[in-house]
Amino acid sequence: HLKLVERSIFGSGIMVLDKERSRVLVIGGTGHIGKHIVAASARRGHSTSVLIRDVAPSDPAKMQLLKSFIDSGVALIKGDLFDHGSLVNAIKGVDVVVSAVGPRQLVEQSRIVMAIKEAGNVKVSLSACVFT
Ligand SMILES: NC(=O)c1ccc[n+]([C@@H]2O[C@H](COP(=O)([O-])OP(=O)(O)OC[C@H]3O[C@@H](n4cnc5c(N)ncnc54)[C@H](OP(=O)(O)O)[C@@H]3O)[C@@H](O)[C@H]2O)c1
Repeated sequence: HLKLVERSIFGSGIMVLDKERSRVLVIGGTGHIGKHIVAASARRGHSTSVLIRDVAPSDPAKMQLLKSFIDSGVALIKGDLFDHGSLVNAIKGVDVVVSAVGPRQLVEQSRIVMAIKEAGNVKVSLSACVFT
């Protein structure tokens, strides 16, 4: 699954983002799938940011994950799917939005679509749910 998602987003699948360096925002980047998408994006040289609900989590594993993002040059942007302003602000700075929010938030992804429409600058948007 993971390889399919990664290849489809960054490689030879439906999107070939490797042809040019993009500014990529991952929403749900701390999740099981999202953390691999974040790592793959940064590894491939894209300017990568992640929308983060809690920038100082009490869970040591999550804190370690955020540290690993920072160490690989990934920007953490505080925000929430349910905070429209934070979504629009985060989206305004990028070319590509990847949603990897959890199965429980799938319907709420319409909030991301609304924010993308308002921001008006996004070239490509993808959701990890299409790969389930
Ligand atoms: N897991 C799999 O094997 C698999 C395989 C293929 C496809 N998929 C698809 O990939 C997608 C992600 O699945 P997953 O298993 O990786 O989910 P997950 O581990 O539950 O991760 C959910 C992510 O969404 C974030 N999130 C939750 N509520 C949010 C909110 N209100 N605002 C912003 N972010 C929020 C979480 O952030 P916090 O860290 O703050 O909680 C976390 O980063 C789903 O569409 C799933 O169907 C999953």
